[in-house]
Amino acid sequence: KNEISIGLLGLGTVGSGVAKILQQHQQDLHHKLGVQVSIKKVLVRNNNKERLSILDPNVFTTDIDEILNDSSLDIIVEVMGGMGEAKRAIEEALKAGKQVVTANKDVMAEYGHDLLKLADEQKCDLFYEASVAGGIPIIRTLEDGLASDRISSLMGIVNGTTNFILTKMKKENMSYEKALAEATKLGYAEADPSADVDGLDAARKMVILSSLAFSTEVHIDDVLVRGMSEIQDGDLEMANNFGYTMKMVGSSKKDEDGIEVAVEPIFLANSHPLASVNNEFNAVYIYGDAVGETMLYGPGAGSLPTATSVVSDIIAACRNLLLEVNGKRVHSAQHERVIKPESS
Ligand code: NAP
Ligand code: HSE
Repeated sequence: KNEISIGLLGLGTVGSGVAKILQQHQQDLHHKLGVQVSIKKVLVRNNNKERLSILDPNVFTTDIDEILNDSSLDIIVEVMGGMGEAKRAIEEALKAGKQVVTANKDVMAEYGHDLLKLADEQKCDLFYEASVAGGIPIIRTLEDGLASDRISSLMGIVNGTTNFILTKMKKENMSYEKALAEATKLGYAEADPSADVDGLDAARKMVILSSLAFSTEVHIDDVLVRGMSEIQDGDLEMANNFGYTMKMVGSSKKDEDGIEVAVEPIFLANSHPLASVNNEFNAVYIYGDAVGETMLYGPGAGSLPTATSVVSDIIAACRNLLLEVNGKRVHSAQHERVIKPESS
């Protein structure tokens, strides 16, 4: 095989970043993989919008089934967002035996267990690094880097939009409305930004992280969610006056009573490392029995940072495909930690 073909579902903030990285890093990718990686089809909703000139105008379609039914495509990359259609696309692609990459936390938080199980059954892979904390490789860290440890808790800032808003309000005295508009313009906010400000986006990410960290099924209904509307007038100023910073924090811990997951605005002492995570940046602390404390930090939203995670997933999918072609690959066991029931 000397070429791997991609069907890209969506060419918005993340999809455009994916197309740019694949084009700009083409030679490095070829060097790493020994094959050409090419976008062959792109799904958009509106075919009249001006699109990236780096893409051949013939790749565009508004018909999702044209992509899902195309047997020449090796990898389907779902960056269209939303729930129903995106879930169907992932499912159909896996059923067709394709490698799938998604950035969709809505779908992964709600249906991740079923989809990963389907991927295992189909001997395909479903990669979703970009679904949590944009450019931070948090999924791989939990799956691989810390696979040997027993994780007891997680704590972090996992939504870029709300962190951006709180930073702008604190440091530039910007209004909530203006800061939200800016976050939307910069491509950080969800299509429906109430998912960000109401804490649902962070809650979905905590579901994904907790499921991985504790090798069990955590459900969105089990998460205590308090959004930015819980922040009272004067809270930010009071925090400032007393050496605190208001942050939207996700937390998850496992003890003998079970697993507790929450997302809420809290006052952090300015000396706390999360208090200085600003703008769209995210950070996640992981507490493990053996490793102790580890913190990952980086851009949590935005086009190129998020696309970095998507393209790294594409590289992993390419490697699997190439091993399969050479008859060496045995389907990776990467999904086991999610679908196995809790063992202790
Ligand atoms: P976006 O800018 O709104 O782009 C969505 C793209 O998908 C657009 O190109 C849109 O077409 C296309 N699309 C959406 N629904 C479609 C449909 N039913 N049929 C055909 N095309 C459709 O979204 P985004 O910010 O890139 O986010 C994409 C996904 O990545 C979401 O799941 C999001 O949660 C996740 N994510 C985003 C970020 C971020 O920083 N933005 C970070 C991590 C994860 P048109 O161009 O014609 O409108
Ligand atoms: N809307 C999300 C955020 C995008 O602001 O964190 C990244 O997942």
